[in-house]
Amino acid sequence: MLCPQEATGIIRQMEATRRGFLRSASLTGLGAGTATAGALLAGQGQAAAAEGAVAGAAIAFHGEHQAGIATPAQTHLQFAALDLVSPSVADLRDLMRAWSRAAALMASGKAIGPVETGAKPGGDTGEALGLRPANLTMTFGFGPSLFGNGDRFGLAKRRPAPLVDLPAFRADALRPPISGGDLGVQVCADDPQVAFHAVHELIRLAAPAARPRWLLAGFGRTGNSRRQSMPRNLMGFFDGTANIKVEDTKVMNNSVWAAGPGSPAWIHGGSYLVARRIEIALGSWDKTAVTRQERTIGRHKASGALLGDVPLHAHILVSSPGANNGAKILRRGYSYTDGIDHASGAPATGLMFLCYQRDPRRQFIPIQHQLAARDSLNQFITHVGSAIFACPPGAQPGGYVGETLLG
Ligand code: HEM
Repeated sequence: MLCPQEATGIIRQMEATRRGFLRSASLTGLGAGTATAGALLAGQGQAAAAEGAVAGAAIAFHGEHQAGIATPAQTHLQFAALDLVSPSVADLRDLMRAWSRAAALMASGKAIGPVETGAKPGGDTGEALGLRPANLTMTFGFGPSLFGNGDRFGLAKRRPAPLVDLPAFRADALRPPISGGDLGVQVCADDPQVAFHAVHELIRLAAPAARPRWLLAGFGRTGNSRRQSMPRNLMGFFDGTANIKVEDTKVMNNSVWAAGPGSPAWIHGGSYLVARRIEIALGSWDKTAVTRQERTIGRHKASGALLGDVPLHAHILVSSPGANNGAKILRRGYSYTDGIDHASGAPATGLMFLCYQRDPRRQFIPIQHQLAARDSLNQFITHVGSAIFACPPGAQPGGYVGETLLG
């Protein structure tokens, strides 16, 4: 329980944050007012037209950074976490080689092996034959358990300090079978079948060295690019308005790419990914007055413009850099649905919250502590899954993702 002085201190701090927030939002054109609201909506059509033209394109798998981080978010997600069964670091190396080879082929729209193999199982399962690459990206990460668990692979000394075990946050309701994992694979594409084929092949290639721990399909991206229209989440609000935009190289360098003495050299040019599966209580949200929904988020529902008077506990205020020592994260999440929530009779839905950053100890963790303590959105959401991965830099042709650690 807070004493009255502490409570007054927090309220003062939040009010100062709110003043700073409103000032910076009006400078960046995200402020309240009909002109901004109109501009937000008007930009949608042009960006959507640009998107349609490139929906079938290919994104190079090789490069300085892994694709799928600074990539404008595609429309579909498949996220898999796997555990290694083999205790051999040579098997892990072979898996990363096989994954990188297959990923490079699939990203360019090619099969990973022959489909017509007669009496033998196919080299490629075939469901993406004839489909375009659809901006397919596959992004690989290493979980903390790869460096721990009795140091199975002799990697403990090379564990990056920012790859911490995430602390417990207030009101977490995490389920171990949909949390954690030695390896994480984020697959994104503008065609759900292309995304499924890629995750299907990557899981197949991993056997018998690794087996899948959890898998989740998503759709409806969080906006992260100026070249795309701003999408809405399943609560009906624009999601991504104040996100880092992947075109902002300076912010990407300062806030997203692992660099500097805090991270070992093997991960420079990579990033740290935090994944949280967050259930949304759509039944009670649907019964909530729109004015209260808007005060929960801090923005108008239809236009996305800031409320004239953002409440102290509004989601956008509590998560903003101004309330978190300037910390910014690149959000790259996706909505998901999962049948019916029989208690409310509403569809069971959620957000697969994915965010990339330079150091989760200074970014996701403090932000989430703030949110868990005072975000109005907490009445409608529950964190049920959690994972963290260190994503190495990109691979060059002939090389493989993870070579800087395992090579
Ligand atoms: C189901 C869960 C969540 C939903 C539905 C949600 C939704 C939203 C919406 C609608 C916005 C306003 C539009 C925008 O700027 O994107 C927003 C902003 C934001 N959210 Fe969330 N969010 C969720 C969870 C989280 C979590 C777990 C974090 C971080 C730990 C987070 C961090 C942020 C940040 C940093 C902003 C931008 C704040 C600003 O500077 O204006 N959100 N979110």
